[in-house]
Amino acid sequence: MQTNCSVYIATSLDGFIAKPDGDVNWLHDPGYTIEGEDFGYNAFMKSIDALIMGRLTFDKVLSFGEWHYKKPVIVLSKKRRVIPAHLMGKVRFMDGEPPEILEKASKQGFNHLYIDGGKTIQQFLNAGLIDKLIITIIPVLLGEGVPLFGKLKADLKLELLSSSKFGNGFTTLTYKPIYQETS
Ligand SMILES: NC(=O)c1ccc[n+]([C@@H]2O[C@H](COP(=O)([O-])OP(=O)(O)OC[C@H]3O[C@@H](n4cnc5c(N)ncnc54)[C@H](OP(=O)(O)O)[C@@H]3O)[C@@H](O)[C@H]2O)c1
Repeated sequence: MQTNCSVYIATSLDGFIAKPDGDVNWLHDPGYTIEGEDFGYNAFMKSIDALIMGRLTFDKVLSFGEWHYKKPVIVLSKKRRVIPAHLMGKVRFMDGEPPEILEKASKQGFNHLYIDGGKTIQQFLNAGLIDKLIITIIPVLLGEGVPLFGKLKADLKLELLSSSKFGNGFTTLTYKPIYQETS
């Protein structure tokens, strides 16, 4: 079965997913709350089989204390890591190049994967393995921080599949990357 990789992420208008120290509290400003609106999150989470997340994102999630993922989480790390006791059976570690990681995930029965974390997304994009990007733009400028995007091997065009705007100023853009065949 074919493996698909999607990104679902929020970014500042100037392209940062966290402040330089990893802070993401700016995403949860009470002024952004819209009663009953989850910006497509639950429908997206239902559509995936597992998450593939960079170790720095995993560390951030652990710092929140509560584990809210109902799907298996694959954490990428080159360092050997210990799985916290309360996450046994929910989290597994992997490392390697993106195609190898996808092959392993597919063998474990995961065919639609949520790729999360800036450096992790950049690697999968560079490997031509992201099929869909769902990006919610938060109307704030941070000036500096952890970038969503980085260096690419070549320009990457994208097809805009949909756009939605919300009363709090959020805009969600869904794109499909158009990878060029390299000879
Ligand atoms: N705004 C949002 O919606 C949103 C979403 C997600 C994350 N974030 C924030 O973004 C920040 C983290 O993003 P980030 O770009 O700094 O890092 P990241 O992508 O979360 O993690 C990078 C780390 O993942 C590991 N890694 C990545 N690819 C690997 C591979 N192929 N094989 C082995 N290990 C691999 C490495 O860990 P080792 O160093 O252990 O080898 C690397 O240092 C956090 O502050 C998080 O809260 C925000």
